[in-house]
Amino acid sequence: MNIDDVKNICVVGAGNMGHQISLLCAMSGYKTTCTDINEEILKKAENFADTYLAGRVKKEKLTEEQAREARANISFSLDLAEAVKDADYVIEAAIEVIDIKRKIFADLDKLAPEHAILATNSSAIVSSRIADATNRPSKVVNLHFFNPALVMKLVEVVKGAHVSEETAEISLALCAKLGKIGIPLEKEVDGFVVNRILFALWREAQWLLEMGVATHEDIDKACVYGVGHPMGPFRLMDLVGLDLAYTLDIERFRRTGDPADAPAPTLSALYSQGRFGEKSGKGWYDYPKK
Ligand code: 3HC
Repeated sequence: MNIDDVKNICVVGAGNMGHQISLLCAMSGYKTTCTDINEEILKKAENFADTYLAGRVKKEKLTEEQAREARANISFSLDLAEAVKDADYVIEAAIEVIDIKRKIFADLDKLAPEHAILATNSSAIVSSRIADATNRPSKVVNLHFFNPALVMKLVEVVKGAHVSEETAEISLALCAKLGKIGIPLEKEVDGFVVNRILFALWREAQWLLEMGVATHEDIDKACVYGVGHPMGPFRLMDLVGLDLAYTLDIERFRRTGDPADAPAPTLSALYSQGRFGEKSGKGWYDYPKK
């Protein structure tokens, strides 16, 4: 198989990442099915596609014809079997729970065509922990997008020892077709490249806050105006979701047992109050309904 054989893409999970990854695929000319088990989340993704495409036309970033084509390329389905039956490339973007991902991949292995590549957009789980739930481990790979996926240019392609050269090559070529910059990671490493760097920043920022050195607003200002980041670490945690930030910390802490990896007290408190960031209207900051 080569990149030209990829015509149909299925994105599993219509949440924070999946709704934008699926629209990106459709806008790049791929017949795309976005699937989720939650009807409300799927409907939200469909509404987003309509609003976003209309907004692109209004901003003159797309012609009406291009927006119509993109909309015709994307469909939404609650039925995984139906969504994946013709897929050449599957991108899983479900929640960061290893047992759920393994179950999804075992199902995908049964339901997707034999030639299909099964990629995970996991933020931290290396694909070797999932690949053996399938009978096609050489076609299971990490394809890691960044939030917001329609905007951020980078995608990490992780070449675990089980991943075939063909799978890695097609995945990198797909990044280019989607207008992204794909970088190959030559081996699996916890957190990949970006999240290792990002989590070091987040940990330091939270330590400064917990020590009472500065407020979260001022630490954000320091990063924006001192080192030119587009947004500070606390604002960024709100964007990607404090539930995700918390879960990733807990997972890492479970693996390493290092107290420095455990979620910081304020993050834990926000998590237990359901303050998950932008999507819940409150996180480090408040987001009044528009
Ligand atoms: N969805 C889609 N498009 C969006 C968007 C969103 N949520 N937010 C902004 N955009 C688009 C706008 O439409 C606009 O597009 P245009 O220029 O083509 O018209 C463009 O982005 C710029 O938007 P704005 O002028 O409104 O806002 P900013 O210039 O402040 O940019 C930002 C917003 C792109 C989010 C910028 O602040 C940024 O780059 N932030 C850092 C994001 C980042 O670091 N992401 C990585 C997170 S880590 C991760 O995802 C990994 C995971 O595993 C944890």
